[in-house]
Amino acid sequence: KEHGARRTDPRELVGPELSFITGNLARLLESGHPMLNTVSQYYFSASGKHIRPLLVMLIAQASSVATKRQGRTSMLVDSDAARVDYSLMDRTLSQTLSSDRESQHANQLIEAATRSGSGGRPYAPSVRRGLTVLPTHRRLAEITEMIHTSSLLHDDVIDRAETRRGMPAIQKRFGNKMAIFAGDFMLARASMALARLRDPEVIEIMSSVLCDLVDGEFKQLQNLEDGSAPMARPDERAFDYYLQKTYLKTGSLIAKSCRSSAILSNSTDDVVEAAYVYGRNVGIAFQLIDDLLDFTVSAAALGKPVGADLELGLATAPVLYAWQEHAELGPLVARKFSEPGDVQRAWELVHRSSGLHRTRELARQYARRAADALAIFPPSPATEALEGVTQSVLTRTR
Ligand code: FPP
Ligand code: MG
Ligand code: MG
Repeated sequence: KEHGARRTDPRELVGPELSFITGNLARLLESGHPMLNTVSQYYFSASGKHIRPLLVMLIAQASSVATKRQGRTSMLVDSDAARVDYSLMDRTLSQTLSSDRESQHANQLIEAATRSGSGGRPYAPSVRRGLTVLPTHRRLAEITEMIHTSSLLHDDVIDRAETRRGMPAIQKRFGNKMAIFAGDFMLARASMALARLRDPEVIEIMSSVLCDLVDGEFKQLQNLEDGSAPMARPDERAFDYYLQKTYLKTGSLIAKSCRSSAILSNSTDDVVEAAYVYGRNVGIAFQLIDDLLDFTVSAAALGKPVGADLELGLATAPVLYAWQEHAELGPLVARKFSEPGDVQRAWELVHRSSGLHRTRELARQYARRAADALAIFPPSPATEALEGVTQSVLTRTR
């Protein structure tokens, strides 16, 4: 959908909020260990795209005009909640926490950041063009960025990445142990900040994202056909499996943080659901483009290695489509491009096929579904900005 002149610049609407994020993250990640501070803030020293915080803030604004007056009734998105074992939760946890000096210090920091977060200005709701962002929305945006970054800290160890955001990857600079600790620490601080939102539904939804991330990584580790006869051509199941993995590793965090943002606005159930559907589809489109850029952009432009997925043995959408046209990709996929020349051969076949074009088409379909989900929001500059972000996910080059 082209909206041309009607489109609102997202950075104009939520630019000030976004500009506080880096400073607030540094405060949320303060510890008594200078080294831990350095490592956990390393990836924030290069400017990330901040797409997740951007979406949280825009959904906050878009849903601020669709609130309901009474207490909400909306329920969790999926059946994950039913499987949560509440007996695992230690009833004395809060006592333990408050008797622990380090945690007390962290609690104070998180509380102070909530009260007076933004560059010395009071952490009050901000209203721009009649659209509201609450302090809890800002905190959710920061939590979302911390969850994302903590997963990258672990991911770069797992993937043995050379670079990220144009810098040496975390473990190249500080070693595996530091990278893992920093990732764990960031996730811990994100959990504390999440608990401090004092919203059980949001806590539950955002916690379920962590399961999804691991689930996605596990799906990625195993090919669909592992243990069964190799496929001659990728069938529908292969695409379904790939798309489910894509939702879990990337879509879930975006979808559920959008959902949580609408919940924090006290939105009606249909708006909460639409926020989720929007985030889910934008998230999948975002990862499809990521998988495309791995084949089309230079490492310098991307700030991280290209061709990395083949090197890691992964058959993403461009490969699956190429495999439909070139059966000889089958054995290469099955052995995860592990033999000399496999990566080069697969790279050539992908470029010779319509795989890249079809991947972009698929991303476009998901982006369209995302844009359609916005129909339920009352029209506002925020919904226009969200349409703009949806488009820019498709045209991004890094
Ligand atoms: C980047 O993917 C990584 C992810 C989307 C998720 C990684 C998740 C884990 C390591 C599970 C542990 C989770 C937590 C919260 C600690 P990629 O490797 O395809 O992308 P890249 O090219 O940017 O590295
Ligand atoms: Mg990875
Ligand atoms: Mg990686």
